[in-house]
Amino acid sequence: MNLAPLPALIGHRGLPSLAPENTAASIQSAVDNGIEWIELDVTMAGDESLVMMHDPDCRLFKQPDIKLAKLNKDALKKIDAGRWFSDEFAGEPLLFCEDMLALVRKTGVGLNLEIKINPDLDTQRQVDLIWAELQSYTEMFDRILISSFSIPALSHLRSLSDVINIGVLFEKVPSNALEITSTLKAASLHCDQSHLSQELALTLSEAMPLYCYTVNDTVTLHKLLSWGVSGVFCDRANADDLKAIVKEHQLTQKA
Ligand code: G3P
Ligand code: MG
Repeated sequence: MNLAPLPALIGHRGLPSLAPENTAASIQSAVDNGIEWIELDVTMAGDESLVMMHDPDCRLFKQPDIKLAKLNKDALKKIDAGRWFSDEFAGEPLLFCEDMLALVRKTGVGLNLEIKINPDLDTQRQVDLIWAELQSYTEMFDRILISSFSIPALSHLRSLSDVINIGVLFEKVPSNALEITSTLKAASLHCDQSHLSQELALTLSEAMPLYCYTVNDTVTLHKLLSWGVSGVFCDRANADDLKAIVKEHQLTQKA
């Protein structure tokens, strides 16, 4: 499936400098601040609810001992996903995948959905359920990119669909990364910028679009763009100083 171009600044978990990560407020804040693509994390709870959360437990809400695998949708609905961030967002609910997809459609924002496999639950089942949710959104597939650190999850997704756009996530890029992306017919490769060398970035970005997490400062952004990196996951993707670096880079490319 053709993938619409991603911008150089992708909202990491929405716009988490202004609103609690992975919530509807974070998506809306990103959209209101002109961010065109966002990355969000989805995982699964004990009753197979798909919820927009980074961790398989409640550490973000200061309850690290509560595992998602032990919770159902009713319990998740009682969690305050905003108060930890600020009083302004007290009462912000956790966002479920189905509601997230509806909001993404309504706002028109591009979506990089990162599957966080809950290690306490079955991998294939999590992918099956996410894929089932996506069935109602096939008309948006050119601006949906599914990524994961879990190669088994991505392999299973690819077995379910030839057309879905896949991004392969690595913390540290392994030497066989391009074999993996090729096998998965991936559209992009994503990695932790802190482990990336100039030589590796140039090699990878020659082969396919390369996106790095998490970049919040102008110096790193400038460096990565000059190394051929297509874009970065950023906690403040609306920031003028970062946008100025992107603009400067685009002018250099045209010259
Ligand atoms: O998808 C890029 C990035 O979000 C991966 O790391 O831990 O922030 O989900 P993390
Ligand atoms: Mg993520």
